[in-house]
Amino acid sequence: MIVTLEVNGEPRSAEVAGWESLLWVLRERLGLLGAKDACLQGECGSCSVMLDGALVCACLVMAADVEGAQVSTVEGLASRAGLHPVQRSFVDEGAVQCGYCTPGLVVATAHLLDERPDASHDDIREALSGNLCRCTGYGALVRAVAAARDAAATAIDPAPADGDSEDRS
Ligand code: FES
Ligand code: FES
Repeated sequence: MIVTLEVNGEPRSAEVAGWESLLWVLRERLGLLGAKDACLQGECGSCSVMLDGALVCACLVMAADVEGAQVSTVEGLASRAGLHPVQRSFVDEGAVQCGYCTPGLVVATAHLLDERPDASHDDIREALSGNLCRCTGYGALVRAVAAARDAAATAIDPAPADGDSEDRS
């Protein structure tokens, strides 16, 4: 069957088999390798993408179900103007980890800050809980998300924020 969808703002279509996942289509049919195929069981978050505005594990979404959908992947975050603010924060805070977990973490963070621009420390911790990494800690990641949140808030309201200092330990 032919599936037509919008990926990162562009119309795309692909011939897909009934067993294929959205992740398979993105990677193997459309050449978008940002979302990673790690566990393929919905456990690790490496394949995180946004589907019609919802954060999903692309490995668990059947390609046949995304006809007409809007999909955003990590490839769509940066623009001609440069890195997405979340990507910039990951770089600045030293939170860029391996190629398997980082794309999903960036997408999950962008989704969190779209939904909760005032995300608390606990919100950030919870939002990252679906993206697994057993190699390092999560301290730099949490700082990067908080920095992206604070940068966005400053861009909207340049008045100094009071209070919400993150635990940098
Ligand atoms: S590859 Fe999809 S959640 Fe791990
Ligand atoms: S899985 Fe990427 S650094 Fe651990």
